[in-house]
Amino acid sequence: MTAPSRPAGTSAAESRDRMAKRLHGLGTTIFAEMSALALRTESINLGQGFPDTDGPASVVDAAVQAMHSGRNQYPPTVGAPELRTAVAAHQRRFYGLEYDPDTEIVVTTGATEAIAAAMLALVEPGDEVVMLEPYYDSYVAVVAMAGGVRVPLTLHAPDFRIDLDALRAAVTPRTRVLLLNSPHNPTGTVLTHEEQTAIAEVAVEHDLVVVTDEVYEHLTYDDVVHRPMATYPGMRERTVTISSGGKSFSFTGWKIGWACAPPELVRAVSTAKQFLTFATGAPFQPAIAQALALGDDYFAAFRASMQAKRDRLCEGLADVGLEVLRPQGTYFVTTDIRSVGHDDGVEFCRSLPHRCGVVAVPHEVFYDHVEVGRPLVRWAFCKRDEVLDDAVARLRRGLG
Ligand SMILES: Cc1ncc(COP(=O)(O)O)c(C=O)c1O
Repeated sequence: MTAPSRPAGTSAAESRDRMAKRLHGLGTTIFAEMSALALRTESINLGQGFPDTDGPASVVDAAVQAMHSGRNQYPPTVGAPELRTAVAAHQRRFYGLEYDPDTEIVVTTGATEAIAAAMLALVEPGDEVVMLEPYYDSYVAVVAMAGGVRVPLTLHAPDFRIDLDALRAAVTPRTRVLLLNSPHNPTGTVLTHEEQTAIAEVAVEHDLVVVTDEVYEHLTYDDVVHRPMATYPGMRERTVTISSGGKSFSFTGWKIGWACAPPELVRAVSTAKQFLTFATGAPFQPAIAQALALGDDYFAAFRASMQAKRDRLCEGLADVGLEVLRPQGTYFVTTDIRSVGHDDGVEFCRSLPHRCGVVAVPHEVFYDHVEVGRPLVRWAFCKRDEVLDDAVARLRRGLG
């Protein structure tokens, strides 16, 4: 990046004063800090969740073809018709959910924009948003930008289940939205039927909107099944379901996401989206439409390959003495570093690249209750096998 982060001649403190108060404390994301550290120390980066192998070549060809056939100008704000139709077909095929592509689906610049647009569109200043802690970091930022107040619902190691009494207690007359994520980053937990039933009951009882981030919908392991929140009783009419082509097809850099919801909620999200980006990556939309229609063999092989990587990294981490909290889904595995004589994840992750050339991410930065996350560290396994093996070999030397 060449642009200065603040006007020349301005001190950090002055610059901070000029920044709106609602952005204070957001700082630089841990991913930027750790990725920069990975580069500086030539470390293996298991910090950031992106695969180091691209998705299907046929999908790349579709994007190239779209560029050559003139799909290079602003597409409709709500998205290309064939992508909205493909998302509707995907929701029907995998979950039996019906959405009208014309009024109930909006394409966004990644799931990130869908989450931001949903918060800006649905949260009034002072409204409370109940969200699972540890959080995906953009949730904190966009709730702050909307002037909302986050209310954490803490997931505790080792199994990261929701305390259903705490869920009920977290809802107040000021609660507007429940913001969920399952399969869950960073813990890898997948909400159970009991948890989802309880969430649906609470949402209906208090007439809440549920915004649910399901970007890892195709990445659940063993016999764990992902069920969208919108399939639960009373939920379809109050749920904004968010996903993206990044994680399901290994094109995280294309930033093609979407939200499915009843017309009133899609109108609200689209209204905000118009003034965030107006429109999203034209040639990538028809390509992701094609990806969504890939056969069941693609989805089964993708899941099996990620599950094998999960098993490979879990075994390696256990082998070097880390206590592994085996994930049911996502790209990530969590370890408790007390098993190797440490208890501060931030300190551990800052020193690890220097000690052995591996980057991981501390959970602590995803909590308000930082003490709960302090001994936990997240590792991404969406990497080539030889990269995972090299990382484990380095850890063996560095921790041994
Ligand atoms: C839980 C979760 N939501 C959203 C995103 C971002 O999705 P996208 O790249 O489609 O904006 C990520 C990426 O890591 C994620 O882990």
